[in-house]
Amino acid sequence: MVVLGIETTCDETGAAVVERNDNGTGRILSNVVLSQIHEHAVFGGVVPEIAARAHVEALDYVISRAMVEASQSFDRLDGVAAAAGPGLIGGVIVGLTTAKAIALVNGKPLLAINHLEAHALTTRLTSGTAFPYCLFLASGGHTQIVAVCGIGDYHLLGTTVDDAIGEAFDKTAKLLGLGYPGGPQVEKDAARGDPARFELPRPMSGRREPDFSLSGLKTALRLEAERIAPLSDQDVADLCASFQKAVVDVVHDRLRAGMKRFWGRHGTPTALVAAGGVAANQAIRKVLQRVAFENGIKLEVPPPELCTDNGAMIAWAGAERLALGISDPLDFAPRARWPLEEVSGPPPASPGPFQGSAEHA
Ligand code: KG4
Ligand code: ZN
Repeated sequence: MVVLGIETTCDETGAAVVERNDNGTGRILSNVVLSQIHEHAVFGGVVPEIAARAHVEALDYVISRAMVEASQSFDRLDGVAAAAGPGLIGGVIVGLTTAKAIALVNGKPLLAINHLEAHALTTRLTSGTAFPYCLFLASGGHTQIVAVCGIGDYHLLGTTVDDAIGEAFDKTAKLLGLGYPGGPQVEKDAARGDPARFELPRPMSGRREPDFSLSGLKTALRLEAERIAPLSDQDVADLCASFQKAVVDVVHDRLRAGMKRFWGRHGTPTALVAAGGVAANQAIRKVLQRVAFENGIKLEVPPPELCTDNGAMIAWAGAERLALGISDPLDFAPRARWPLEEVSGPPPASPGPFQGSAEHA
């Protein structure tokens, strides 16, 4: 089956066409992403109103390019998928309404996809990863450890009680005058810095609950920066290196706790899977590799362009759901907030003729 996917929950306008074969393997026929980074960079972060307007301006073009690159026409699609949340609501409305229009005019099923579910399932498109697996999702808006046991069968093992990891990188970069998005800049400067120069806290370390907290680390970094101001180039590099080392230690400790909880509640995972922009960080990848090794499982990290927001992951999640006979009504409401655990799976199979009610027994 062939599905068009639309992504507009944050600052990336994405559209893609993905094919899913009956044996569960997938193929990306096109994947067009138009980043708005330059429009937001001057503000040091994403401005929701600017994002929504930019999606309106770009989406038609991005969709038609995705369709042309895939050599597809709307009437040949099996379904139309769009991210219906969670995210910045203006952008979500733009993408979901467009998908509804295409689905309605062409008589195709609509798939209203949870953006986090799409991140969670990408590894099945790129590597055919079997359930159950442990997902570490770390982006600008989310930091979660999730047991992915099936389509619509997601169990949150741990999350952040304040900032997301990517957000902490972005705020650190802003504080040090490094520009937006901050993650790649902080990683670059960290490479020439001394990770041992500043003693920063490792919040939540040692706790049994696999949760994260980043705001104390961020504040500690700010206090150190203020203490030694004005900052030289080397000071900035040392602050970046010390911050990144603290985050890496936190991720190591928290993921160990998360894996322990996974084994206790869901048995043996087939893999540790990373998703979200933060997974692009080499130091963090190294520690993920270590956690996977400690647990005797493989680490799966989709290629960088599929770790960050894109239309292919939305199309793929749509195809996975459509293959199970799931679709959504055209009046599906966009959602700013939509926890992964609230995503529904396929309806329970109807009982066979001899296993139903007591009358049959
Ligand atoms: O998944 P993503 O593209 O967008 C969403 O937030 O949904 O993730 C972007 C986040 C930003 O906060 C960015 O600073 C962070 O991922 N990021 C990184 C790196 N590359 C991107 N953080 C640390 N190191 C990196 N190399
Ligand atoms: Zn995302």
